[in-house]
Amino acid sequence: MEKRQLGNSGLEVSALGLGCMGLSFGYGPAADKTAAIALIRVAFDKGVTFFDTAEAYGPFTNEELLGEALEPFRDQVVIATKFGFEGGDSKAGLDSKPETIKAFVEASLKRLRTDRIDLLYQHRVDPNVPIEDVAGTVKDLIQSGKVKHFGLSEAGAQTIRRAHAEQPVAALQSEYSLWWRQPEKEIIPTLEELGIGFVPFSPLGKGFLTGKIDENTTFDKSDFRNVVPRFTAEARKGNQVMVELLNRIAEQKGATGMPATPAQIALAWLLAQKPWIVPIPGTTKLHRLEENLGGAAIELSAEDLREIEEAAAEITVQGERYPEALQKRVGN
Ligand SMILES: NC(=O)c1ccc[n+]([C@@H]2O[C@H](COP(=O)([O-])OP(=O)(O)OC[C@H]3O[C@@H](n4cnc5c(N)ncnc54)[C@H](OP(=O)(O)O)[C@@H]3O)[C@@H](O)[C@H]2O)c1
Repeated sequence: MEKRQLGNSGLEVSALGLGCMGLSFGYGPAADKTAAIALIRVAFDKGVTFFDTAEAYGPFTNEELLGEALEPFRDQVVIATKFGFEGGDSKAGLDSKPETIKAFVEASLKRLRTDRIDLLYQHRVDPNVPIEDVAGTVKDLIQSGKVKHFGLSEAGAQTIRRAHAEQPVAALQSEYSLWWRQPEKEIIPTLEELGIGFVPFSPLGKGFLTGKIDENTTFDKSDFRNVVPRFTAEARKGNQVMVELLNRIAEQKGATGMPATPAQIALAWLLAQKPWIVPIPGTTKLHRLEENLGGAAIELSAEDLREIEEAAAEITVQGERYPEALQKRVGN
């Protein structure tokens, strides 16, 4: 698979990474551990060198899973993880106090079975800790060799600038896809100006953009999508028009005579936006992993992109992407 640079950081990763959250957390029960380890290793065999986790996924079990799965080829991959919640619990409060970050890194290194974290993100901006203090703490960790690069997640443009002035930010990880394009307004121009890479999370719209979810889909009771306004049955029905657009483009594309899939088009569209964008789709299923990685081989022409642009401009996506309480955590 093609490699990409995350901004000016010098950090090189596969054009598509693997988002590992769903293997342990967020979308129903955790996957079987043996199968999850096998899936991560297949991803590596197929050229993925960028693996995304967080303390909060589980909490802790997802980092442990990656530690075990990646150990045999640790030096050939880039591991990204995140700190920022009290006790690692994403339902608890935010906590980016310097001593918490340092303790997190020690524990995370053990779980990940490694001596350094390649990319360390703050998961959410903590309004009680100046971002300069967070960046300064990560700077010290970089100087000690325990961390290689600094990242932010769902931070606003001002926070990104302030953090970057203290310690260069290698990557921002925030939601971005055909049905969430807010970052195009202020964030992407800021990243471009500062030379920071962009790692879109939920690049498949939490599964919706693949076309496998409709108004009749039911989710496990522990599935986060049950509380997302964009995933009410009514919104799912209304938003099928976005899947129809992806299907139409998919039929026109595809490599060896086979039509592409909506998931592949959703990923190819993200890759076409900027050469320093690296989406991290997640799946628990081997056949979907293969499908998604196929998205990196699809080149959308200027005409394809124009067609998508024009059709998307006619679509009003229904439902907020987050419930109100979570939207409040998105930084300025
Ligand atoms: N920084 C943050 O705050 C944040 C927030 C959310 C996510 N993330 C990161 O971003 C990664 C990806 O985001 P995400 O998992 O939320 O969303 P996503 O990658 O947009 O979608 C994942 C969902 O789509 C399904 N799926 C994947 N490929 C598919 C395919 N080809 N056909 C049909 N369904 C498919 C998966 O189900 P199956 O498992 O059944 O295939 C899963 O439910 C996460 O793993 C995590 O590492 C970060």
